[in-house]
Amino acid sequence: MLAALNAPFPWTRRHVLSLEDFSAAEYALVLQTAGSFQQVLARRNRKVPTLQGRIIVNLFFESSTRTRTSFELAAKALSADVVNFSATTSSLTKGETIFDTTRTFLAMGMDIVVVRHRDSGVPHAVARDLEQLGSPVSVINAGDGQHEHPTQALLDLFTLCTLLDAYDPRPELLAGKKIAIVGDILHSRVARSNLCSLVTCGAEVHLAGPPTLLPGEFRQYGATLHHHLAPALEGADFVMTLRLQKERMGDYLLPSLREYHRLYGITRERLALCRPGVRLLHPGPVNRGVELSSDLLDDPRLSLVSQQVTSGVAVRMALLYLLAGGKAA
Ligand code: NCD
Repeated sequence: MLAALNAPFPWTRRHVLSLEDFSAAEYALVLQTAGSFQQVLARRNRKVPTLQGRIIVNLFFESSTRTRTSFELAAKALSADVVNFSATTSSLTKGETIFDTTRTFLAMGMDIVVVRHRDSGVPHAVARDLEQLGSPVSVINAGDGQHEHPTQALLDLFTLCTLLDAYDPRPELLAGKKIAIVGDILHSRVARSNLCSLVTCGAEVHLAGPPTLLPGEFRQYGATLHHHLAPALEGADFVMTLRLQKERMGDYLLPSLREYHRLYGITRERLALCRPGVRLLHPGPVNRGVELSSDLLDDPRLSLVSQQVTSGVAVRMALLYLLAGGKAA
C-alpha cells in the first residue's frame, strides 16, 4: 500500500479555506500524500477505491478550466461520485441563494463541496452555514475573489518540491530558495496563497509589479517588494508569472499591455539575470506575449506549466483523501 497513507494521521482540519494558518507539518503531510497519489496516477489503472460511495460536489460560480477539471479527475481517481454544478444552468438563475443551493446538495448526501466564487469569503460563508446546520460536510476553497486559492498554491508547492526531490518532496527543500512572483499581485488570489505557503516553508519571496498592482500592504506577508523587475529576478531560482486580471481591473491601473510587457514582461534576456537553471511557473490561463514571451511557455527546459497542471490532480486527491479521512467508510 502507499507509504504516506499508512503514516500517522496528524490532520485535524475540517475545511481547506485558506493557507494563512497552515503549518509546515501540514504542508509536509499534503506533499507526502500527494507524492503517493502521484504514483497511483502514473499506473495503468489510475483509480483507487478510497472514496467509493462518497459524493463530491464541484460548485463553481466562476469560469474555470484547470481547477474544475482537476478536482473532477481527482474525485474520479478516488472512485467518488462527482457532481459538476454550473451556475449558468442552475436554479440560481431563478433567484435561489447559494445557501439554498448547497443545502439542496446536502439533502442529496454530499460529503465534500468544492467552491469557487468571484467574491471573497463565499467558501467561508458556505462552511459556516453548513456548520450551523450541524452538517459534517467539508468545504474546499477553489478560489474566492481576490482572497485565496489554496489548492493552486499547494500544487505549486508540490511542483517545486518534487522538482527538488522527486522521491521525497518536503517543505524544507525550499529553505533559502529565491522565488520571484511577478505581475498583477493586487488581484491575485494565487499570489496571496503562495505567499503564505512559500514564506512558511522558508523561501525568500520577492514580489515585482507596477505600483498600481503591487501595494505596500504585501510587505506584511514577509515578502520583499520591487517596482522594477531586475532586482526581483537577480539570482532567482524560480519565477512565477501571474496573469493580468483584466476582468478585475478598473481602467486606470495600466497605461497599456504593450507598456506592461516592456517593463515587466518575462523574456529570455531578462531570465539571464536569474540563477542558471531557473524554472518558470504560471497558474494559467496565460495572456501570451503579455506577462511572458510566448516561446518561454513552450520551452520544456524552462517552463513548469504542464507539471503544475499534472501536480494539481495528485494534490487535490491528497486533500480530498485527508478531509475524508476522519469519516472513512
Ligand atoms: C487562477 C485563478 O482562477 O485564480 N487560475 C487557476 O485557477 N489556475 C489564476 C487566474 O485566473 O489568473
